[in-house]
Amino acid sequence: MGIVIAVDGPAGSGKGTITKLVAEQLNLVNIDTGAMYRCVALECINKNIKETEINKIEEVLKNIEIQLKKENDKQVVLLNGENVTDKIRTREIDIAASKFSAIKQVRNSITPMQRAMAENKNIIMEGRDIGTVVFPSADVKIFLDCSSEEKARRRHKQNLERGIESNFEEIFAEIERRNKLDSEREIAPLVKAEDAILVDSTNMTIEEVTQKIIKIIKEKVNI
Ligand code: DC
Repeated sequence: MGIVIAVDGPAGSGKGTITKLVAEQLNLVNIDTGAMYRCVALECINKNIKETEINKIEEVLKNIEIQLKKENDKQVVLLNGENVTDKIRTREIDIAASKFSAIKQVRNSITPMQRAMAENKNIIMEGRDIGTVVFPSADVKIFLDCSSEEKARRRHKQNLERGIESNFEEIFAEIERRNKLDSEREIAPLVKAEDAILVDSTNMTIEEVTQKIIKIIKEKVNI
C-alpha cells in the first residue's frame, strides 16, 4: 500500500477542485469516488431501473466496468468502455447518484473497487466515506466543508461555466437536500471521521485551501 490521503466532505465543498490541484502538486493519483456512484446511477437510468429494483441493480453491478483515467491532463470517466465524463455531470445524475449510493448492494460492490484502484499507488481519494469506511487507516484524513450559501454559489458558478442551466435558489435547495440525504443515510453516511482534520473553506480562495491541505499532508507524511 502506498500513501493514502482521504478527503471527504459534502457536495459543493470544493473537494473536486482542491483534490485535483493537490494531486498535481504532490504527484498523487486522484480518485474521484463520486464519479463511480454517478456511473451506477447513469447505467440504471439508461436501463430504466428504479432505486427499488434491487435484483436488477445487482445485475447491473455484476457487469459494470468503471475506469477513471487521465487523458491529456483531463480526468476521464469510462462506463463499460464509453466516455461518460460529461454525461454524469447533469442535475438528474446529481440527484440519482445520491439515491443509488444509499443502497447497501451498491456500496458493497463499489467500495472494493475503490480499494483495488488504490493498490500500489500514492493516492488522494475524495468522497463521503473514504476516511470512515473505505480507508479507515488512511495516512491523512481531511474533512472539507463550507457554508451552505458558499456551496450553492460555487455549484451555481460551476454549472454556468459548464453551460448547464442554473438557478441559485434551486441549486441551494437541491444541494441542501442532497447533503441531508448523504448525511442521514444508514450506510456509510457523510460524517467527519474522528481523526480527520476539518478545513472550512468558506472564506478561503482555492489557492489558500490547496496550500493549507498540502501543508497538513506534508506534516504527516514524507512526500
Ligand atoms: O461527489 P459527488 O457529488 O460526485 O458524488 C455523487 C453522489 O455519490 C453523492 O450524492 C453521494 C455519493 N457518494 C457517496 O455516497 N460516497 C462517496 N464516497 C462518494 C460519493
